[in-house]
Amino acid sequence: MYRSFFLIPSVLCMLVACKSSDAGTEEYIRKDFAFASVQLKVAMEETERAIANESSESVANRQRRGHGPLVSPRSVEEDGSLIVVPSRDWTSGFFPGELWYMYEYTGDPAWEEAARTYTARIEPEKSNGTTHDMGFKVYCSFGNGYRLTQDPAYRDVLLESAYTLTTRYKPTAGIIRSWDHSTSKWDCPVIIDNMMNLELLFWAFRESGDSLFYEVAVNHAETTLKNHFREDHSSYHVIDYDTITGAVTKKHTHQGYAHESAWSRGQAWALYGYTMCYRETGKASFLEQARQVANYIFTHPHLPADLIPYWDYDAPNIPDEPRDVSAATVTASGLYELSLYDAEQAELHKKHADTILKNLSDHYLAQEGGDHGFLLLHSTGSVPGEFEVDKPLSYADYYFLEALLRKQKLESTGKLF
Ligand code: GLY
Repeated sequence: MYRSFFLIPSVLCMLVACKSSDAGTEEYIRKDFAFASVQLKVAMEETERAIANESSESVANRQRRGHGPLVSPRSVEEDGSLIVVPSRDWTSGFFPGELWYMYEYTGDPAWEEAARTYTARIEPEKSNGTTHDMGFKVYCSFGNGYRLTQDPAYRDVLLESAYTLTTRYKPTAGIIRSWDHSTSKWDCPVIIDNMMNLELLFWAFRESGDSLFYEVAVNHAETTLKNHFREDHSSYHVIDYDTITGAVTKKHTHQGYAHESAWSRGQAWALYGYTMCYRETGKASFLEQARQVANYIFTHPHLPADLIPYWDYDAPNIPDEPRDVSAATVTASGLYELSLYDAEQAELHKKHADTILKNLSDHYLAQEGGDHGFLLLHSTGSVPGEFEVDKPLSYADYYFLEALLRKQKLESTGKLF
């Protein structure tokens, strides 16, 4: 199905990696990409096999719910089988994004071909206005593809996706609605994760000049800044809004331990999201929020010495609680960018990110050639939801590769963009 991945051998990877200044770093980035090269080929084989062998019962269930075909790997079931999801799943864009990162690192056209194949499968999402996850799905896949290829067809998909996302904007409250489910609990829920989807809107503003995208993104970030954070700068997970008055009606969690606890991945989304919003707007309050979240995370007494957090900073049985490697990879990638803007603490942010990557590379990698081709073990999807606890997750892997690339770019050029 795909071209040989060995046309451009590891020599090229070494040349690319050799630009970085520190020999130890250079070595683990090279090794991690060599490992990812093996794993992602396994992942593609296993994904295609799972798609081909989907049971007739599963096909019927999926079709009854109006869900399209399976497209991307997400995680591992309790019985050990691979979870492959349709494009409407919030995680569908991460695997194509990983393939684009492989292409970016290696320059091997076989990775581009693979990335294009998996990216094309996400296109139906461009008109799906039933969820806020557009950035996760479309920016990680088509967004990286456009950045690396300038393919005009990708630009069209991205702009249509951005328009679709703006249809979820509630002007009185000044936010983009996150979920349509759980209507008996919430009227208009907004989750901290939604900060990540704003990157697509900022891109669309730059690309089209249409200020609608910018206004929606900035308003959402400002409203979230006002309502999502506690005095200690940790983030709530879910804020519910009255869309008639714009008032906050509930401060809840969905995937954290308790309404007043600090769900680890939520803190990571906040750090990354406000850093990105500072890049796009230059607003000092966004940078300050990112700095404060970083400070919250790295001074927390429950953060383990290896800097890979438990799934919630307030989980009741620490240290006997699952870790969440995905929170660590999102944080590491966000910290490299934050180090560009926060001169005072730049070295500290880089040191924390380096420590995370080194520890992941040394202690959290999947088995080479196994684990369905995932890169990292020990992530946590949802403890309250009782799914994907202490499992590999595609988004942990996506932000791992992104952080490695960011590390390499910072070391070789001092820039990320
Ligand atoms: N955005 C969903 C999650 O972080 O689990």
